[in-house]
Order: sequence, then structure tokens, then C-alpha cells
Amino acid sequence: MRRRLLLSGGAGAAVGAVAATVASGRSPDPAAPPSTVDDTGTGVVPFHGPRQAGVSTEPQAHAAFVAFTLHSGTDRAALGRMMRLLSDDASRLTRGVAPLGDTEPELAVLPARLTVTFGFGPGLYAAAGLPSPVAELPPFPIDRLEEAWSGGDLILQICADDPLTVTHAQRMLVKDTRPFAAVRWVQRGFRRSRGAQAPTHTQRNVMGQLDGTANPRDAALETAVWAGDATTLVVRRIRADLERWDLLSAADKEQAVGRRLGSGAPLTGTRELDEPDFAAVNAAGLRVMPDFAHVTRARVTDDRLRILRRPYNYDHSVDAAGRPDTGLVFASYQSDVERQFVPIQRRLAEMDLLNEWVTPVGSAVFAVPPGCPEGGWIGSALLS
Ligand code: HEM
Repeated sequence: MRRRLLLSGGAGAAVGAVAATVASGRSPDPAAPPSTVDDTGTGVVPFHGPRQAGVSTEPQAHAAFVAFTLHSGTDRAALGRMMRLLSDDASRLTRGVAPLGDTEPELAVLPARLTVTFGFGPGLYAAAGLPSPVAELPPFPIDRLEEAWSGGDLILQICADDPLTVTHAQRMLVKDTRPFAAVRWVQRGFRRSRGAQAPTHTQRNVMGQLDGTANPRDAALETAVWAGDATTLVVRRIRADLERWDLLSAADKEQAVGRRLGSGAPLTGTRELDEPDFAAVNAAGLRVMPDFAHVTRARVTDDRLRILRRPYNYDHSVDAAGRPDTGLVFASYQSDVERQFVPIQRRLAEMDLLNEWVTPVGSAVFAVPPGCPEGGWIGSALLS
């Protein structure tokens, strides 16, 4: 796209106009269509299709996870009305079109690869009089869960490469949810900005680690994530004690995870995508990949039992002493929570060196129903 922009006169003029505006210190005409320097703002991820977008989609830079509690009178018919409305909003917003009743339509014009992914919690199925395909997670000994970040009958995972796009979509969708449900929690998160590095590069989390290396891809992703066209979403808010993490040497940090900080390579390899050798021992006869390293404990080799991690960093605030409230909005997709996520989380809860510095403070589970065709709505097979 950048190449095409440079070659095409029109876009070249737009870039020139931006440069000239910056040079002259004037703002561009606010009523004119926005001129963009690359395709970050104009990128579109199709909303319609057999599967919901925002799962296999290459993660966008910004996310809002918005969970709701249904009002007591919201029954199956009301849920159908709500999902018709929200699906219509999402189909417009993701195309860069203002939804009906948008009071700031100017904010809708840059979709920036916006996706809105809907998930249904156990409470939504109960309200609809239907059996739930997902159950709340069992308690784990490492959990220090706070009400403020846990549970939910409905979730909207709103992702885009621009934070203002996320904010506007969130506001429009929340407005239309009001007759049916109350916001329970909102978790905002971020990854590297689009364009900061090639999309093929693994992102770093706030602890400085390359995060996402061993995610399933292609056929393995298909097997791990999709049950037909449906999937499930686990959201865990995991606080990281960076002040104490900072006290470790780089070598100790690498031991805790089992991978190098710089390259992301396993301790038994040299490149990020090298397979860890869990049997290798050092001169002292100790395993090079520590038995209790995060990667050793989390490893799953059967593709049917793997999970797709799609986490975002959060950076909530800093207290008066300068200590940050930061960590991961850990989000994972898998076809079956009980069979895939729970055993991994159990092993990590039992023993994972990383537990010393990270604490789950929020937890929620959702079924993610199939997508919908143009003119359709998410959840129609269940709720109509
Ligand atoms: C703040 C919390 C966490 C941090 C900082 C973290 C960090 C990491 C890092 C740096 C890696 C190695 C690179 C990679 O493959 O992405 C990794 C791998 C992995 N993590 Fe986590 N993680 C966290 C929580 C979790 C949780 C809650 C789960 C699931 C219950 C999980 C499951 C995994 C899995 C399955 C792998 C791949 C292991 C492999 O096969 O090599 N992680 N994590």
C-alpha cells in the first residue's frame, strides 16, 4: 500500500498536503475526508462471514474488553433485539460508516481494522433459557480475583489500530446496550503501534518478554481454536509486579520463562523459533530448560489441546510511590475451555516460576458464537 501511495499522484498529493499543513502549522479542513499517510486508518477487516473477526485476525494495536451484566428482564426475545442492534452497529463501524444515531459521525470514518467480537457468558444462556456451552473457571490457588474485573454475561472485544476508533466504537455500542444490560467492567489494552515494527515480529509485553512465539498457526490454529465456526474466550487480568521483577538479573528472568529476553530463543537454542529441547542438561547435570519455567509448564504438543493467546498489555495507573498497576489482559481462544485452557492453567497454578511476579486479579469465560452473513446478526441461531 505504501508503495502504491508513493506511486499514485492523488495519494502523493495527500501526503504532500499533510506535510505542507504541518510545515505551515495550519489544521487541515476538518470537514474534508481525512488524508492519511498510510493505510493504518483506512484498513477494513470484514465483519461478515461464517466466523467472527477478531480471533484469527492479526492482533490490532489497541483493545477494549467490555463486559456486561444483563438487566433482570432481558429474556431471549430482548437478547435477540439487542444482538440485532449491536450487530448492525458493528457492521457499520467496522466499515468506517457511522451507526444509526451516531452523534459524532466524524469519529467513525477511520475503522483502522476495527473488529467487534461478541462473546456470551453462562448468564446469557441462563437468561435465554438455554444450556450454556461454557462454565466459569474453577478456582486456582494463585487467584486473587477482584469483582471489578471478573465475570460477565456478555463481552465485546473491540480492537483497532487506533485508540480513538476503539473509544468511539465502545461508546456507540455501550449506548445501544443500555436498555438490556449494564457495563460490568472495561479493560483497555495495547500492543505495539501498527507500523512500529513488521507485523511478523512478536510483540513484547510489559515485562519485556517476546510474547506470542509459540502460538498455533495455520492448520494448528484451525484445530486448536475452532469448533465448526464457534470458539471460546477466556479473559484473565494478570497483574505484574514490575518493581520486584526489576530486581532480577536478566539471566534469572530468562530462567523464569525458559526463553532469552533479547531473541526470545529457548534457553537450548539461538533463534526465536527454535524448538526448546526439554531433555537437554548442562555440565552440572541440570536441565537447561528449568522444570518449573513458564514455557516448560505451559507446553502442549497436541494441537487439539493448544490455545491461541491474544493478550494485550495494560498500564492502568501509578500509585503515589511510583509503583505501576500494570500487566496483561490475557485473552485466549480455544475450542473447549475445560479441555484446553483449564489443564494449562492448572499446571501453571501448581508450579510456574513466573507466579512469583504475576497474579491473576480478574477472570471471565465466554462462548463465541459463529459470525453472520450480510444482513444477519450474531447469535441468531441461538436467540431467534
Ligand atoms: C502475566 C502473565 C503471563 C506472562 C507474562 C506470560 C508470558 C509468556 C512468555 C514470555 C512466553 C514465551 C513466548 C511465547 O511462546 O509466547 C509464554 C508462553 C506461553 N504461555 Fe504465557 N504468560 C502469562 C500467562 C499465561 C497464562 C495465564 C497461560 C495459560 C493458562 C499461558 C500460557 C502460555 C503457553 C501455552 C505458552 C506457550 C508454551 C510453549 O508451548 O512454548 N501464559 N508466556
